Amino acid sequence: MCGIIGYLGGREATPILMESLKRLEYRGYDSAGVAVLEQPTAGQAIRTSVTKSEAKVDMLIEKLEANMPSGKLGIGHTRWATHGKPTYINAHPHTDCHGKIFVVHNGIIENFAELKAELEAEGHEFPSETDTEVVPHLIEKYYKGDFLAAVRAALKRIKGAYALAMFSSEDPELLVGARLNAPLVVGLGEKEYYIASDITAIIPYTKRVLVLGEGEVAAVTPLGAEVSTLDGVTVKSKVVHVDWDVAQAQKGGYDHFMLKEIHESDDAVANAMRGRLTDDGSVSFREFDVPDEQLRDITDVLLLGMGTSLHAAMIGEYVIEDWAGIPARAEDASEFRYRRPTVGNKTLDVVITQSGETADTLVALHQARERGALSVAVTNVIASSAARDADGAIYLHSGPEIGVASTKTLLAHTVSLFLLALRLASVNGRVSLERRQELVEALRALPEQVRMLLEREEEIFALADKYSGYRNFMYAGRGLGYTVALEGALKLKEISYVHAEGTSGGLLKHGPIALLDEQFPVVAICTVSATKDKMVSNVHEIVARNAPVLALVTEGDRSLDGVATDVFVMPAVEEAASVILNTVMLQLFAYRIGVKLGQDVDQPRNLAKSVTVE
Ligand code: AGP
Repeated sequence: MCGIIGYLGGREATPILMESLKRLEYRGYDSAGVAVLEQPTAGQAIRTSVTKSEAKVDMLIEKLEANMPSGKLGIGHTRWATHGKPTYINAHPHTDCHGKIFVVHNGIIENFAELKAELEAEGHEFPSETDTEVVPHLIEKYYKGDFLAAVRAALKRIKGAYALAMFSSEDPELLVGARLNAPLVVGLGEKEYYIASDITAIIPYTKRVLVLGEGEVAAVTPLGAEVSTLDGVTVKSKVVHVDWDVAQAQKGGYDHFMLKEIHESDDAVANAMRGRLTDDGSVSFREFDVPDEQLRDITDVLLLGMGTSLHAAMIGEYVIEDWAGIPARAEDASEFRYRRPTVGNKTLDVVITQSGETADTLVALHQARERGALSVAVTNVIASSAARDADGAIYLHSGPEIGVASTKTLLAHTVSLFLLALRLASVNGRVSLERRQELVEALRALPEQVRMLLEREEEIFALADKYSGYRNFMYAGRGLGYTVALEGALKLKEISYVHAEGTSGGLLKHGPIALLDEQFPVVAICTVSATKDKMVSNVHEIVARNAPVLALVTEGDRSLDGVATDVFVMPAVEEAASVILNTVMLQLFAYRIGVKLGQDVDQPRNLAKSVTVE
């Protein structure tokens, strides 16, 4: 998730771009750049000044202050790398063959490889590794003197997600913005205008914004902003008055980053699949491009992670064995590193690490590689240590996760592991085309199902309020529901400091049930699965000990009506999909209890976002 900003007006653009990029830095910060159309002095040709930094925004600002471009039209970008490492050449803005068209982009262009090949065949050259760079060259391809028309023609060719700000040095009074599956707003000042990935960037300048709709284009001139479709049909956009301050804007108006990031879960799930899954269930990972034959030789899969990422590893273990029929095991990386593990050159080692910097996970990765395993890092950070040290990477594309508690990135990890399991199942011929299509349908339906669940926030908060007085919780589940229980317990304890433990339903009678009484509620994962009836029996045993039970059940299943203290009804979905939905529900449940207890849910005590030491 990157930050983009554009300005056209009567003031110097550069100071505004610099200020705005500082406020957007929370969206991504591994490189940055600006392009400013300079006012020609008498007799001089018009030119564009481009300044970039392969580091944080501060380095870019230092460069700009040392040599401040002067002009009233400019665009800027702070990058969270998705395609291509954080380097100078990959930093935005990107331009066309003639250095006349300048573009900054947030999003993922799914079909950039085919567009790049087409353009290269026509003589275009691409110095960077980014997907973004196809945009200015595509506009150049269609440019016949009308920049806006060329932009529309180019965008009609693009699939995926984009929020764009762009200009041409041949049109010095035109700034263009466009969006598809990524947010973009147009700020309306006094005879000056802004285009930004979110209002955080422009809050100090204006509180009046036009919010662009999907597939819309904004053409900004000194006379105002005109919004239209890619077919040139004018759109009457609503002007919205926003009265947030910068901090509120960075949280998107939510009270905490954690809540904002839970509400980004639908996009996180969608972005983890974007460009990787075809209708017939074929899966490809651009940065883990291993031939089928090599994957077919894999005899076992070792998944390593810590904390929430270990729970993701457990989900991976379950679905890889279930779908691909390959022995798989999830290991606590801190334990693995001190054992004499059985890992060979036909082991696939999957390290799951949002930050890509967790010390125990990195050491375990190195040990597995030393023993000849093929390794892949499932991570949210391009060019992180894990991504660099593994043979390949599966990037989450979730954008920065500011809250210490992992929320949206766990869902992206889970979906990425579903895709990996589907890939392994396919190369081993273990899954029919019909079953693949069923799984594709279930995965493709997920973002909308998450969106619908998020709309039930108040219902979940009401349950959290009811249970927020307890000081102990047990979370119980079976199969994939067991991993949901473990993760639900971790989420609650780490942000509310309330004791919570996860157990499998089968283990309850082997000890944990001794804890239960009317002061020790149980969250029971009872949505449809092969072992749901066993969980129902567990709930009866729990209720017999007078412990309150909050049961997650599938719509239409009345087996716990009048038995559980409370039931939360979930939609009937594929069991794998229920992992995502149940997890989101329990994240909101934990968040609300943490807030009710007055805890700092974004920065819980004693915790760090990335544990880079043992
Ligand atoms: C979970 O909410 C915590 N953020 C923590 O358990 C985290 O999952 C763990 O430290 C692993 O971090 P990583 O994914 O960056 O490796």
